[in-house]
Amino acid sequence: MKPATELIDGHYDPKHARNAVKMPLYLSSNYVFSSAEEAKKLFEQKGVQPADQDLAAPQDMIYSRLGHPNLLLAEARLAAYEGAESSLFFESGMAAISTLFMGVLRPGDTVLHSTPLYGGSDHLLRGMMQAWGVHLMEFSSDERVEQIIARIQAADVTPSIRLIYIETPANPNLQIVDFRQIRELSYTIQKLTGHKPLTACDNTVLGPVFQKPLRHGIDVGVYSASKFIGGHSDLIAGALVCSREWANKLRGVRSQFGGTASPHTSWLLTRSMETLELRMEAAQRNAVQLVDFLKNHPQVGQLNYPGLLPPDHPHHHQATGSGSLLSFELVGGQSAAFRFLDALRLVRHAVSLGGTESMACHSSTTTHSNVPPEIRQHYGISEGLIRLSVGIEHVDDLTADLAQALVHAVGAAD
Ligand SMILES: Cc1ncc(COP(=O)(O)O)c(C=O)c1O
Repeated sequence: MKPATELIDGHYDPKHARNAVKMPLYLSSNYVFSSAEEAKKLFEQKGVQPADQDLAAPQDMIYSRLGHPNLLLAEARLAAYEGAESSLFFESGMAAISTLFMGVLRPGDTVLHSTPLYGGSDHLLRGMMQAWGVHLMEFSSDERVEQIIARIQAADVTPSIRLIYIETPANPNLQIVDFRQIRELSYTIQKLTGHKPLTACDNTVLGPVFQKPLRHGIDVGVYSASKFIGGHSDLIAGALVCSREWANKLRGVRSQFGGTASPHTSWLLTRSMETLELRMEAAQRNAVQLVDFLKNHPQVGQLNYPGLLPPDHPHHHQATGSGSLLSFELVGGQSAAFRFLDALRLVRHAVSLGGTESMACHSSTTTHSNVPPEIRQHYGISEGLIRLSVGIEHVDDLTADLAQALVHAVGAAD
């Protein structure tokens, strides 16, 4: 089956559920064992799902924190769509990210990470992970591999680098990290130390439709599935996409921390993924037209959208589209940004992104308010920056709303 068909028909046979066209919602916290021998066998597997599990039949289940039919179906479909061996769903993107960090990192390890990261990931690394003895070292997307290697060698941290964590395009400035550079960085560290750091990419902004990091040699794809995968602003979820070996390890960590996606969340995700390609492509068409409108507008300064990058930029090599998230600076700084947001009538003034409805927010005072001001400045998250997640409404209505809010942004004082 083609990937888009997998998201609709993959891994489910109606005959296992009274011929229901869709897999029903299995609202059961636990499952009856068929025999004592069966229970013993299931516990010996320690939550590791066999590769050939029949996902439609609700046998081989123990307890919903460890696994349940709706979870397995959602996971099988996301993995099939990405062409990956496995995927894991969580109750939030942060549950996926924290499970990854707790599963991979130990005190004394170093995380080499790109900047900027989503505010919550940044906060987790700088706060709790550092407090537990994990060291951080950051790099920017325009640094060359040799420069990064020279810096980590000078700091004497090379042997402790366990994880290279990137976000691309980055939220909210849409900076691109080149996957080829990350592969090279990881192999160079392996040559120097004898161990290869795990590489993980937060792929929330473009994936899985327009970007598939595993195909470019990244080990783990990370998602806030509250965004495009869920797609309707009605659920919070997260996902990791990786090899079967890593999924087995991380599934164990997920069971211990308890962030497993519930039956209801998993059922909604399965519903949402059926229209994932349609939604992301429609939103991208709108975004391209809005970028055209914004790029020559006198109230708009810097406009960040991957589609504006020159044709030889790595973005065009590693992604098949530019998606529907963009950000732009308003002339007039924070007061202009606030006037703009308060004047919006159709576009929702809300955090989050990737829903069917368009949403705008002021990153520096909302999603990235936990990032210290001098670091925000360094990342280019200025006081006039607006992040816009373009939805699938009619583009004429969106253009009209932005146009009238931009008139308000000028304000009396300007
Ligand atoms: C890029 C990115 N990664 C991770 C997260 C965290 O995901 P969640 O809010 O689902 O926990 C977000 C949330 O905004 C995000 O934008």
